[in-house]
Amino acid sequence: MDIVLRKWNRGDAPALSLLLDGIDRRYLSDRLPRPYTLTDGEQWLDMVLKQEGKAGIFRAVMVDGELAGSISVEQKSDVYRRDAEIGYLLAGGYWSKGIMTEAVRQMCAIAFRELDIIRITGLVYEPNAASRRVLEKNGFVPEGFMRNAITKDGSTYNLCIYGKQI
Ligand SMILES: CC(C)(COP(=O)(O)OP(=O)(O)OC[C@H]1O[C@@H](n2cnc3c(N)ncnc32)[C@H](O)[C@@H]1OP(=O)(O)O)[C@@H](O)C(=O)NCCC(=O)NCCS
Repeated sequence: MDIVLRKWNRGDAPALSLLLDGIDRRYLSDRLPRPYTLTDGEQWLDMVLKQEGKAGIFRAVMVDGELAGSISVEQKSDVYRRDAEIGYLLAGGYWSKGIMTEAVRQMCAIAFRELDIIRITGLVYEPNAASRRVLEKNGFVPEGFMRNAITKDGSTYNLCIYGKQI
């Protein structure tokens, strides 16, 4: 299986919109538009193309040449500026094959090389065991919880804080 992180381009909008519209949202922010339209995809790609390499790294996760997911590391500002937050998602058909573990490995190397950061933070809703495992397999250390920080679809979850140092 060939797992490549490649830069986004504006022509990705249709495939991106399809991917995001069908994504499992159980453990994702309610800010993600639903339905996720072509216009949503175009607007997000405009933001990405402006920010890329400056305040963040954004990549399409390509598996054997197909768009399977998305991964980003976004640098924070103010006194938090040498920290950055990682985020990722993968279409359901690609789960549990080690793909995001490999994507996070590649992404951390790129982010530590290209951004002026000394740590990467991962924030995961506690029941999202697969995501926590992906971070742990990449050397992220659990640093604590924010108790009952998340309200999602009628449920309340702790937020797990993970950190990886350069
Ligand atoms: C989280 C997500 C990115 C994981 O991607 P993935 O490519 O399937 O992850 P990997 O296959 O690399 O690793 C998953 C690990 O979690 C484990 N896992 C999967 N489901 C699990 C579960 N319900 N309970 C415990 N462990 C689980 C797998 O066994 C594997 O660990 P292992 O290698 O030790 O066996 C994917 O499920 C996803 O996109 N979910 C929806 C969006 C999302 O939640 N994004 C993260 C927000 S923080």
